[in-house]
Amino acid sequence: MTPRVAVLASGGGSNLQAILDYFDAQGTERRAEVVLVASERVTARALERARARGIAAVALDAAQRGEAMASLLASYDVDVIALAGYLRFVPVDVTRGWRGRIVNVHPSLLPSFGGAGMYGSRVHQAVIAAGVRVTGVTVHFVDEEYDRGPIIAQWPVPVLPDDAPEALAERVLAVEHMLYPAALDAVASGRVALGADGRVTGWSPEFSFICSPQPA
Ligand code: GRF
Repeated sequence: MTPRVAVLASGGGSNLQAILDYFDAQGTERRAEVVLVASERVTARALERARARGIAAVALDAAQRGEAMASLLASYDVDVIALAGYLRFVPVDVTRGWRGRIVNVHPSLLPSFGGAGMYGSRVHQAVIAAGVRVTGVTVHFVDEEYDRGPIIAQWPVPVLPDDAPEALAERVLAVEHMLYPAALDAVASGRVALGADGRVTGWSPEFSFICSPQPA
């Protein structure tokens, strides 16, 4: 059976869109399908994107944490969960219930520039302030700590002299759109897995076939 994916998103949902487009492009051979999009923000654009595609879109209310969130995911027979710009802490009932089947994309090369409070533009501001010359994208398994789960795939993006956070964010996001769906595919189809020892096994050649967009 085709693995069933839930996407949790708080914002614009461009990564959700990239995931939908990626699996659409696989046509009848698609290796996973998004069956649920959930957000704690009723106005999240991600929910609109889901509705436009006829995918169940759920605005999570305050009570839908912990066990209730796990029950919601279970009611859609969700195999894999993808966080795509999801700003809330994922409850332990969910991280434990879907251990090795819940992934996140982060707009830096973890473990640098991650952790609580490091999201959105703050990440890119911190990267520029630190003066590093390379940042990038990390896809990782999600555990009980923000941005610390085992790393599945990473891709570098150069930091240019005089880069502004917005310009850097745009270049990083373009790489997220390439790397995240491929990594999600690898996890959903079992080509990459989280071992009992907490280490990631397997790899996908697609992880090195993406190209960083060149600066203008
Ligand atoms: C992305 O940069 C992602 O890495 C981060 O939040 C942003 C979400 O963007 N976790 P979008 O909602 O997918 O457009």
